[in-house]
Amino acid sequence: MNEMIIKDAIEFVKNTFHDDYSGHDYFHTLRVYKMATRIAEQENANLIIVQLAALLHDVDDIKLSPKTYVNKNRAIDFLRKQGVSEAMIKTICNIITEVSFRGTDSTEPETIEGKCVQDADRLDAMGAIGIARAFAYGGSHHRIMYDPEIKPIVNMNATQYQSHVSTTINHFYEKLFRIKELMNTDTAKKIAEQREDYMKIHISEFLDEWDGIR
Ligand code: ADP
Ligand code: NI
Repeated sequence: MNEMIIKDAIEFVKNTFHDDYSGHDYFHTLRVYKMATRIAEQENANLIIVQLAALLHDVDDIKLSPKTYVNKNRAIDFLRKQGVSEAMIKTICNIITEVSFRGTDSTEPETIEGKCVQDADRLDAMGAIGIARAFAYGGSHHRIMYDPEIKPIVNMNATQYQSHVSTTINHFYEKLFRIKELMNTDTAKKIAEQREDYMKIHISEFLDEWDGIR
C-alpha cells in the first residue's frame, strides 16, 4: 500500500512541476525524496512520513502556489484522496511548514522525520547542483550574477530575506555558505562538508576570473 502512495505522489509532483524553471522542478523534488530516504535510513526515522513530506514539500510553496501556501490545500487534497489518516496528514504538514529557509527565523524541526527532510532540501541547494540551481533561480528572477558594489547582507530575518533583492553571488554568502552549520543530522553534516568545499572552490575561481587573476 505504501508503495502505491509513493508511486502516485511521484506522478502528482511530476504533473505539478512540469513547467518550473526556477530550480524547483520535479527533479529537485525527486532528489530531495532520495536524499531524505538515505538520511532517514541512517537515522532510523519513519520512512513513509519522511518520503511523503519530501515529495510534497514544495507543492504549496509560497513562490509557486501562493494561494494554497497557508492551508497546504494541494498536499492535503492529495493525501486525503489516498486515504492517509488525519493524524499523519497533520504530521506531514508540520514538517512541510518547518522545512523552508527563512534567514534567522528558520526553525529546527521538532521531529527526526522533519530533520531528515529539511537536511535533504538544504543539501540540494549545495554542491554542484546547488550552484546550478542558484544561477537558474537568479536568471529566472532577472537578477544579475554579480556586482562588487552590492554587498551581501547576512543574518536577515524572514521578512527581510523574502523581500531582499541581491545578486546570485551574494546568495552564497547570505544562505549557501551558512546552511552547513544548520544541518540537523550527522549523516547530512558529512555530505554538507564536501558540498561546501566544492562551492568555495567555485566561488573563489569565479572571483579570480572576474578580477582577471586567472
Ligand atoms: P527552500 O528549498 O529552502 O524553500 P528556496 O525556495 O529559497 O529554498 O530556494 C530554492 C533554490 O533557489 C535553492 O537552490 C536556492 O539556493 C535558490 N535561491 C533562492 N533564493 C535565491 C537567490 N536570491 N539567488 C539565487 N538563488 C536563490
Ligand atoms: Ni525544496
